[in-house]
Amino acid sequence: MATKNIKILGIDTSCDDTCITLLEVRGSDFKILSNVVSSQVKLHAKYGGVYPFLAKREHQKNLPVVFKKVLGLARDRQFDLIGVTVGPGLEPCLWQGINFAKDLAKKFKKPLIPVNHIEAHILANWLMYKNIPLPAMCLVVSGGHTQLILMKDIGNYKILGETRDDAAGECFDKVARILGLGYPGGPAIAAEAKKFSGGQTSTSLPRPMIHQKNYDFSFSGLKTAVLYKVRSEKYNKIAMAVEVQQAIIDVLIHKTLKAAKDYKVKSIILGGGVAANDELRKQFKEKIKKEIPDFRFQIPDSKSCTDNAVMIAIAAYFHRLERKSGQDIKANANLKI
Ligand code: KG4
Ligand code: ZN
Repeated sequence: MATKNIKILGIDTSCDDTCITLLEVRGSDFKILSNVVSSQVKLHAKYGGVYPFLAKREHQKNLPVVFKKVLGLARDRQFDLIGVTVGPGLEPCLWQGINFAKDLAKKFKKPLIPVNHIEAHILANWLMYKNIPLPAMCLVVSGGHTQLILMKDIGNYKILGETRDDAAGECFDKVARILGLGYPGGPAIAAEAKKFSGGQTSTSLPRPMIHQKNYDFSFSGLKTAVLYKVRSEKYNKIAMAVEVQQAIIDVLIHKTLKAAKDYKVKSIILGGGVAANDELRKQFKEKIKKEIPDFRFQIPDSKSCTDNAVMIAIAAYFHRLERKSGQDIKANANLKI
């Protein structure tokens, strides 16, 4: 008997993007019917980072507009269930999405599924690929998180290590501010580094915690090292961008490969905004091919690495049967996977 197609409305307002998606599940295939990300980057750029109460106000304004646009683009006003991010994220922002989702669930009499944003970054990989061999070592690298997570199954995770201070994305953002490259820092540093003509850079930066036996990270010392250099010596901005990007890449690749080998997993999975970095993607692929060619390496396309609601709809789909759904869901800024 053919299974009925399911249409899922995904909503994410965890940070500074208002994201809504209408995703259709046909058998085991996901099809994006429409997907809108309304970015607030220009608004926050002058503060050099996200200003939570401004972001909250923008979400409130944008949510109905984006919702209408999504239904219009999909030429369809039907959906069977709603998934919304409940954490982690900026609490005032999370509540905007949750309250909007609750109103829709009540109005259209649909189930409402709470989604963990970090798990959704991992599950973004299931959009294109169905049979990812498990267990997997997942590296989630976003603006607020850098975590190595052992995934035994969908819904079964163990955090092995995480950053003790700044996340990798946060380090990109703070260094970009120091170098006057603007916000968000990751794409700005990547673009600056692409101008490099090759060879040795004239500067060297530390690779924090790279040889420690644990799976934790620390990036605030790297940012401080850049600050000292900028203040105390003549530096080349392009060379500095290359070096800081490379320092972050070296640590992320080294620690992830070590964890993957130690835990004898079958796949390595990446997710989160920093995973959109071209150099990181390229070097990860090359290193895995060279060192552990039988590993499956999985990474979403760049658009699906940064915040979006497709990943929220996918997570809601996988958890639609077992998660309590309803009007009593709450925001949890520090929600763990
Ligand atoms: O996952 P994400 O979109 O939002 C959070 O959940 O935080 O990640 C945002 C982070 C920002 O710190 C941004 O600078 C970084 O991802 N990022 C990048 C790139 N694109 C976004 N970092 C390095 N290279 C990129 N191309
Ligand atoms: Zn994110």
